[in-house]
Amino acid sequence: MSTLLTIQSSLFGEQGQSSALINRFVEHWLTLHPGGKVINRNLAEDPVPHLDLERFQAFTATPDEMTDAQHEAVTQSDALIAELVSADVILLGIPMYNFNIPSTLHTYFDHVARAGVTFRYSANGPEGLVKGKKAYVFVTRGGVYGESHAQTDFVRQFLGFIGITDVEFIHAEGLAMKEKAEKNLAAAKQRIERLSAVV
Ligand SMILES: Cc1cc2nc3c(=O)[nH]c(=O)nc-3n(C[C@H](O)[C@H](O)[C@H](O)COP(=O)(O)O)c2cc1C
Repeated sequence: MSTLLTIQSSLFGEQGQSSALINRFVEHWLTLHPGGKVINRNLAEDPVPHLDLERFQAFTATPDEMTDAQHEAVTQSDALIAELVSADVILLGIPMYNFNIPSTLHTYFDHVARAGVTFRYSANGPEGLVKGKKAYVFVTRGGVYGESHAQTDFVRQFLGFIGITDVEFIHAEGLAMKEKAEKNLAAAKQRIERLSAVV
C-alpha cells in the first residue's frame, strides 16, 4: 500500500490556494491508488513550537540528561520524522509569505532536520537519510518571481539535505493579479492531472 503525506502551511487552511492544489493531486492519486493511505499534516492548524535552545539541545542529549520538556520535544520531533519516513509520496503546499516559506513550515523543517536521524556527516560531506521518496511542491504566490527564486532554491536545498532529491515543483504565480490568477491556477491544475497520473 502506498502512503502519501500532505504538508499544508497556508494560513487559510483548506481555503488556501496551495491547499486546493494539494487536494486536487490527492483526488487524482486516490483514483490510481484506491487503497492508498493519506496522512495530512496541517501546520497552520497545528503548528510546531519554535526551536529554542532547550529543544535544540534535546536533540543531541541522552535520555538521562533530558528534562521532561526535552523528552516531550524529542517525542514530538521523532513522531514528525516517523510520519515523513512512512510516506512514499510527499506533497508540500507552500504559499509565499514575505518572500519565503511560511514560518510554520520553517519550524517544521527545524524539527525534522536531525543529525544522525535524517542526515549525517560522512567523509564526503553531508548525507541525507530520508531516501526513496518522491516529493511534489506546490508553490503559490501573489506576485511573479519565476522558478529560480530563493524560496524555491531553499526548499530544494533543504529537501535534498535530508535525502529527498526526487522533487517536482509546481508554481502558481500572480495569484493576486486578476488577469493572471485564473490562467495560472488552471495551468497548475492541468499539470497536476498529468503528474498525479504517473506516480
Ligand atoms: C502574510 C502574507 C504575506 C505574503 N507575502 C507575499 C510575498 O512576499 N510575495 C508574494 O508574491 N505574495 C505574497 N503573499 C500572497 C500569497 O503568496 C498568495 O496569496 C498565495 O496564493 C497564498 O497561498 P495560500 O492561499 O495557499 O495561502 C502574501 C500573503 C500573505 C497572507
